[in-house]
Amino acid sequence: MRCDFKRCRPLEQFCTLSFILVILFVQNGRCIKWLALGHTSDGWNWSRESCTGVRSSGLLERKQARVCRAAPDVMPSLVEAAKDTSTVCQQTFRYRRWNCSSIQLAPNYTQDLLGGTREQAFVYAMSAAAAVWRLARGCALGSLAACSCATPPRREPPSPSALTSSSIALGALASRSSFKWGGCGDDVKSASRIAKRFLQASSLPGSGTLGKFMHAVNMHNNRAGRRAVEQSLTLECKCHGVSGSCSVRTCWRGLSSSGPVVAGKRLLQRYATAAEVRARPGGRLPPLYHHDNLLYTTKSPDYCLPDKKRGSLGTVGRQCNASSSGYEGCEYLCCGRGHITKTKEILERCQCKWYNCCYVKCKTCRKFTNTHECN
Ligand SMILES: *[C@@H]1O[C@H](CO)[C@@H](O)[C@H](O)[C@H]1NC(C)=O
Ligand SMILES: *[C@@H]1O[C@H](CO)[C@@H](O)[C@H](O)[C@H]1NC(C)=O
Ligand SMILES: *[C@@H]1O[C@H](CO)[C@@H](O)[C@H](O)[C@H]1NC(C)=O
Ligand SMILES: *[C@@H]1O[C@H](CO)[C@@H](O)[C@H](O)[C@H]1NC(C)=O
Repeated sequence: MRCDFKRCRPLEQFCTLSFILVILFVQNGRCIKWLALGHTSDGWNWSRESCTGVRSSGLLERKQARVCRAAPDVMPSLVEAAKDTSTVCQQTFRYRRWNCSSIQLAPNYTQDLLGGTREQAFVYAMSAAAAVWRLARGCALGSLAACSCATPPRREPPSPSALTSSSIALGALASRSSFKWGGCGDDVKSASRIAKRFLQASSLPGSGTLGKFMHAVNMHNNRAGRRAVEQSLTLECKCHGVSGSCSVRTCWRGLSSSGPVVAGKRLLQRYATAAEVRARPGGRLPPLYHHDNLLYTTKSPDYCLPDKKRGSLGTVGRQCNASSSGYEGCEYLCCGRGHITKTKEILERCQCKWYNCCYVKCKTCRKFTNTHECN
């Protein structure tokens, strides 16, 4: 962070003191350490004791452990959410310079997920989205004590013209059939509340203005993630009536046609338009950012070359696409260093023929495919 001396307020002078940043980096990854549960705690029987155990091994922050002890039945959903976060993130970024492989280091993250970068913003938001989605599913399946199906909306069902494109067929039917709320709507509100309580860790006492600020940024990104799921609710309906006449329809608001991957797509757009924010006195966020925006505090490196200090693995040896001009194209992915082309021979069965009645005879054909790797 840069301080312009003419405008520099006393508090902002802190930002030039790098040792404070080091302290911040240490505390900044605290709230996503729980993502390690995805590979350490699969299939556990959760109890108050296991919550305490996980807390002392450092994977849960104090408030998270409290939520865990109060309702251990939410933990299996959160373990699944941790796995979703890792797979969706790696899937989303697989052809990019930063490909999210470092999320697998949880809980021992590198600077790319500690320093307040855009990538960190995505992971915070994605983990919150996955948590809400998994908890909402847990609610609907009846496996959580705190929630079940959503209470149906009080207002009338929307008119056919308001239906989303996926329900156009239903829309055409709507004029002829009555419509009532029913089924089991996904209780995203309760799920979001549980996720918020779990993810809303406290900022470390004594971490100062900057610590509070970083915490506010992380929590903002968490909320953006939860909202991404809330916005993915769609109208789902089922027809009733004599032999598919659909004279009566029951409808609910559900998540089944979406999933963590859909939230990931939404959040990738927010990642592209994320806004940089600077610490302000008091540690609060400036009020001008919309709830859906992702926020970051530190510019990312270009991830072209290995740089351990900044959490960059570099792109040497990465596979690229020689005919694409996008992120996965060799030009961009290899950062102008060029690439090598490797030809691989593949042996395949081919020209298969039936003989007499009963057996197949094939030839072996050679095929060559090219792969490209960054220098
Ligand atoms: C989990 O707990 C249930 C009942 O308390 C028990 O039947 C089951 O064997 C336990 N599973 C594991 C993997 O410990
Ligand atoms: C993370 O670091 C701690 C302490 O250095 C170590 O005990 C633990 O095994 C590491 N975890 C992983 C998954 O590498
Ligand atoms: C992600 O990038 C790293 C560093 O370049 C590389 O080692 C790893 O194989 C990549 N992962 C995938 C799935 O391509
Ligand atoms: C490479 O990119 C081109 C153009 O975008 C695309 O048509 C092709 O399927 C890609 N190849 C691979 C192996 O992904």
